[in-house]
Amino acid sequence: MIVLGIETTCDETAAAIVRNGEEILSNIIFSQAANHREFGGVFPELASRLHIEKIIPVMETSLKDAHVSLDEIDLIAAAKGPGLLGSILIGLNCAKALALAKDKPFLGINHVEAHLYAAMMQNEKKFPALGVVISGGHTMLLIIETIGIYKPLGSTIDDAMGEAFDKVASILDLPYPGGPEIEKIAKMGDPEKFKIRPAKVKERPLDFSFSGIKTKLLYLAKGQGANRLSPSIISNEEKYNLAAAFQKTIFDDLIDKVLLAIEKFDCQAVYVGGGVSNNQTLKELFNKKCPISFFFPKKTLSLDNAAMIAGLAYWKYKEKEISDSLGIAAEARISFS
Ligand code: KG4
Ligand code: ZN
Repeated sequence: MIVLGIETTCDETAAAIVRNGEEILSNIIFSQAANHREFGGVFPELASRLHIEKIIPVMETSLKDAHVSLDEIDLIAAAKGPGLLGSILIGLNCAKALALAKDKPFLGINHVEAHLYAAMMQNEKKFPALGVVISGGHTMLLIIETIGIYKPLGSTIDDAMGEAFDKVASILDLPYPGGPEIEKIAKMGDPEKFKIRPAKVKERPLDFSFSGIKTKLLYLAKGQGANRLSPSIISNEEKYNLAAAFQKTIFDDLIDKVLLAIEKFDCQAVYVGGGVSNNQTLKELFNKKCPISFFFPKKTLSLDNAAMIAGLAYWKYKEKEISDSLGIAAEARISFS
């Protein structure tokens, strides 16, 4: 079964062709990150406009690279959310129009669930498993009974982990997206020079909170009571140390919660998805501390991409063989299902 996947929930315009949920025939991603950098984050209106410009060429390239014609596609899938409404609508409507014109089945896919599937894609699938989603918009732990059946265990009560990376990067005057920048300078720093403690969420040991750490970082970098626009009062060396301390604090917190979840629940493996799973230091920490098999997405699948959308769509369609209505809506927020 050959699936065309489309992804436009945030600032990547992406299309991919995947056979039987695993074999990636093409995976085309146009990242708008450079276009948004001067705004210090994603500028929604600009994102929508760039999706409109890029979606057709990106889709055409995905078909060409895969050596597949539109007639050979068995299913068309697009991310239906969560994300920026104006952006989602472009990919979703494009998929619906193609499905209608070519009389193909169509599925709307949850982008966050697809991030989790990215960790399973082309990897051994062992269930029940612990799922860890760490992206720019979401942070959660859940039990994966099988693909499509999940039981939430915990989530963030404020910022998402990637969002915390981006905000701390902005405090340290690093460009957007901040995660890779923090990872880079943290390598030059000593994580023990600043003491930052992870926040505990009262009576909810598997929940996360990052906003307190972010404020602590702000005051350390710019002075007590400072705001985001205040000038920095630290040296470059201290900046590296702060980045290292921040990264270590939140990754130690994450691994402690993963270990707690594995201890409490029956888990055959851990699957870690979402943009922060791109971080090499985090993988090394899992290598050191995780006692059971764990899987991260392949490099090309960790950030926003359409191969994870097409891959997950295959499993969803295989289960019921029912096409979604072309009337389904784009959703800025979706509960996990
Ligand atoms: O999953 P994703 O591409 O988009 C969402 O669905 O949100 O995640 C993007 C997030 C950004 O916040 C970015 O800073 C973070 O993932 N990220 C990283 C790294 N690469 C991307 N965070 C930490 N370390 C990285 N190497
Ligand atoms: Zn994403």
